[in-house]
Amino acid sequence: MFVRTATASTAAAALLGAGALLPADRPEAPERQTAPVVVAHRGASGYAPENTLAAADAADALGIDWVENDVHRTRDGELVVLHDTNLKRTTDVEQVFPDRAPWAVKDFTAAELAKLDAGSWFGTQFTGARVPTLTQFLHRLERNRQKLLLEIKSPATYPGIERDIIRVLGRSGWLDRSHVRNRLVIQSFGAESVKKVHALRPDITTGFLGTPAVADLPSYAAFTDQINPSYATIGADYVAAVHRLKGPHGKRLRVNTWTVNKAADAVKARDYGVDGIITNFPDVVRDATS
Ligand code: G3P
Ligand code: CA
Repeated sequence: MFVRTATASTAAAALLGAGALLPADRPEAPERQTAPVVVAHRGASGYAPENTLAAADAADALGIDWVENDVHRTRDGELVVLHDTNLKRTTDVEQVFPDRAPWAVKDFTAAELAKLDAGSWFGTQFTGARVPTLTQFLHRLERNRQKLLLEIKSPATYPGIERDIIRVLGRSGWLDRSHVRNRLVIQSFGAESVKKVHALRPDITTGFLGTPAVADLPSYAAFTDQINPSYATIGADYVAAVHRLKGPHGKRLRVNTWTVNKAADAVKARDYGVDGIITNFPDVVRDATS
């Protein structure tokens, strides 16, 4: 922040002589915003195949602590990390299991998913990357000392997934005081799913993905700590409206916006006052906003 006291200004003016224009006396001296937290979207997915261990490592290599991912559930109940509800775009499932259209994640077992290549589509150097289980992903973030913004994807497709996620987080050591306070946020586009997480574990920080009307924000503040909207839907006024409210933990609601990949947009988002920026290119956003 550019902070200047009246006393210091007066003393400096005396030294420079009457009428001298001090830098901070110039009209419209810009207020510098605090640098937002940078979150690697699906890992550093501009540089490595999204939602793989390689993408988490790519974020780590850039010095990025926060990683966002997307969680689904297999037919036999394993939690796995990938974005789409089907496997076509980011794996070779159509070659390996040609008779299993529409290749929905929920129709495959964990053992079947483990046979798929989730890296080649992005680049040959990633051939052999797998769809990680949530447990594998958590272990990798732990090894890297990273933090997780976990998205529950399509929660209506997976009844009870909130409890499953909490069970896996607990078994992996992610529900101790240190992780819960500093290294974990659970978010979803499904408000009911976020409410369930909050009811099951009120100590966990939660996020709602979307842009609720300002008039509706107080009802969200009952169960979510963050409102995480698309960058295209917000401006400084919206961010300020969210910031006027306190969440279930008595702290000001936070705003993490997505998906911002260009430096100029990152600067605009920062100047709107957002707390975090979710991006495929975390180095670009960090360098533009810090
Ligand atoms: O974390 C925000 C963002 O990931 C939401 O959209 O479709 O990329 O999961 P999507
Ligand atoms: Ca996501």
